[in-house]
Amino acid sequence: MSLFPVYPLLNIHLTKAKDVYVYDQEGTAYLDLYGGHAVLSIGHGHPKYKQNLKAQIDAIGFYSNSVQNKIQEALAEKLVSFSNCPDYQLFLCNSGAEANENALKLASFHTQASRVIAFKNGFHGRTSAAVAATDNSKINAPLNAQQQVDFFELGDLDGVEKSLKKGGVCAIIFECIQGVGGLDEAASEFYKALEQLAKTYNVLLIADEVQSGFGRTGDFFAFQKHGIQPDLITIAKGMGNGFPIGGVLIAPHIQAKYGMLGTTFGGNHLACTAALSVLEVLEEEKLMQHVTEVSNYFISEASKIPQIKKIKGRGLMLGLEFDFPIAKLREQLVYTHHIFTGNSNNKNLLRILPPLTIQKEHVDTFISALKIALP
Ligand SMILES: Cc1ncc(COP(=O)(O)O)c(C=O)c1O
Repeated sequence: MSLFPVYPLLNIHLTKAKDVYVYDQEGTAYLDLYGGHAVLSIGHGHPKYKQNLKAQIDAIGFYSNSVQNKIQEALAEKLVSFSNCPDYQLFLCNSGAEANENALKLASFHTQASRVIAFKNGFHGRTSAAVAATDNSKINAPLNAQQQVDFFELGDLDGVEKSLKKGGVCAIIFECIQGVGGLDEAASEFYKALEQLAKTYNVLLIADEVQSGFGRTGDFFAFQKHGIQPDLITIAKGMGNGFPIGGVLIAPHIQAKYGMLGTTFGGNHLACTAALSVLEVLEEEKLMQHVTEVSNYFISEASKIPQIKKIKGRGLMLGLEFDFPIAKLREQLVYTHHIFTGNSNNKNLLRILPPLTIQKEHVDTFISALKIALP
């Protein structure tokens, strides 16, 4: 059976990984500044993570949500100190799209409305409501066109309010820093006004922290910088450091009813152990503080390179913008210099999403390679 080809693939077969490096079958080391698409938070094969997962698989790897699960409770408890959302409730699932799908569904149950407001260049996943709220016609099938979604430029409050006035809106969904879109972020005033509009019109505000959450920006959630408190917060990617897990943090005024949401695999013992280990390592190794330090160093070194026209993003969710398409540069970085980087909807932007354990010496390696590779 052949594989259904949905992505253009690099001609590299990875066989092992350690911290910020991945290795191919010939043993060549690649510096991972892509983190498997912002997934590796505490680094490949972190000793504590491996040890906890091995012990958990020996004890019990999986049981469904028909029994009590103390690891889920421990994860919810641990999330309080990071998220500053003490009264919120936690729903666990398996991916970012699923987290957004459940958040949108919850907003619709809660408000009994069905229209959604989303933003141009936003990405929320590939399932039904999540993909409909994603501004990319190529990944929306005719089936997904059933959803009613109004898209506005990030920052367009007038447009958002006009749409709210028409009525029938259940949610406003946004990425505080757009990942796939190319690292754009609006001013605090915009996010604060959005929060106010959601309250005024009785719709739920959903912060998609799937990519920007779990410490990647140096804050636990990217929205925390703007002093807002969304009703629903979606998480995935860095949460499991590669083990599939996602979740929704749900404000206390949203009430659960049996059957509203559900999942077979979501919140299983292994997945929760992975997420709990990530939080423990973030805390023990003070990784969020480290993100800010290494990010400042990265930005100061990158700003010395004249070909870089703009540095976008925050923490270790960064974009280097050039005045030419980066496709060839990216290829050269991976095949000649053995460094993984990312791309985005903005063809001129090189995306940097390394494990949060990256050190200054790795930044130096990248900067030297970039200088050689640049035209
Ligand atoms: C902001 C954001 N939301 C949602 C998703 C979808 O996550 P997943 O691929 O785990 O379904 C992504 C994936 O890139 C993302 O960047």
